[in-house]
Amino acid sequence: MKTRITELFGIQHPIIQGGMHYVGFAELAAAVSNAGGLGLITGLTQKTPELLAKEIARCHEMTDKPFGVNLTFLPTFSAPPYPEYIAAIAEGGIRVVETAGRSPEAHMPALKAAGIKVIHKCTSVRHALKAEAIGCDAVSVDGFECGGHPGEDDLPNMILLPRAAEELRIPFVASGGMADGRSLVAALALGADGMNMGTRFIATQEAPVHDNVKQAIVKASELDTRLVMRPLRNTERVLNNAGVERILQIEREKGAALQISDVYDQVAGVYPRVMVEGEMDAGAWSCGMVAGLIRDVPTVKELIDRIMAQAHGLIHARLAGMLEAQPG
Ligand SMILES: Cc1cc2nc3c(=O)[nH]c(=O)nc-3n(C[C@H](O)[C@H](O)[C@H](O)COP(=O)(O)O)c2cc1C
Repeated sequence: MKTRITELFGIQHPIIQGGMHYVGFAELAAAVSNAGGLGLITGLTQKTPELLAKEIARCHEMTDKPFGVNLTFLPTFSAPPYPEYIAAIAEGGIRVVETAGRSPEAHMPALKAAGIKVIHKCTSVRHALKAEAIGCDAVSVDGFECGGHPGEDDLPNMILLPRAAEELRIPFVASGGMADGRSLVAALALGADGMNMGTRFIATQEAPVHDNVKQAIVKASELDTRLVMRPLRNTERVLNNAGVERILQIEREKGAALQISDVYDQVAGVYPRVMVEGEMDAGAWSCGMVAGLIRDVPTVKELIDRIMAQAHGLIHARLAGMLEAQPG
């Protein structure tokens, strides 16, 4: 399939694996890129720029296809050394960076000087337009369904994507709630040039996380995610568990007086416990509503081949067939 996104990134299929803390290691990024999509290493999971450089080198050993790095600009008190991370990315020969969180504006000159294409992930049309204005090459439009941080506008993709298509000139991919060929065809119909998936890629053979995480996603229904940290305007969609119930209880008790310090223990340091140790009740970890559509743990190649076959079938048979069936 050829879209503006496959052309921009030099990939076979318009499918991107979004950055995921403690999931986006070289194994997954390489598997996605080898299967014809665009895999991404999650930059900040690597504790230092030196470790990121090593992870990039490891990924180069596993694939000769293009892959990228996610760089999340956190709303934090202790900012990571972003210029050094960008230097490691550029020196590692990376040509695509997915930015997320805050605007990447301050870092655009460094990224562009290194010949890097920037796809900014955001949850509103106004932020997407801002990304376009500051020179991003593409955007990833993340709807309310998404795992992780859906923002505070609560716009589902059925509205957000066509609104983005009305306003943007640069290409964009649909993100949040994407799982299969139906998602891809719908995303293309709504004006996107491809799709970005997070949660679906965790439930794959190559995702280097504990099997408990994959099984939890397979078992979960579309009703099993919760929104935490709403009162802090740092909303995160997570899979419900005992730790999440504790956070929600604290949020109810504190009401509008809630501070990050009240829930810090339940959200900080949780990822290694969940993803590495498989402690499923440790606390809040991002997961999308799309868990309700995930029923197996295929290889990444099986998943991507299946998505593309289903998309082709939908376009050629189901949709084209409906037109042919029209009387007159
Ligand atoms: C476990 C997990 C961790 C994530 N970590 C990050 C992250 O560190 N940075 C980021 O930009 N997005 C992160 N995301 C968001 C994904 O990149 C992607 O935008 C989102 O999962 C799309 O929604 P979906 O899960 O419905 O596919 C994370 C998502 C999940 C499920």
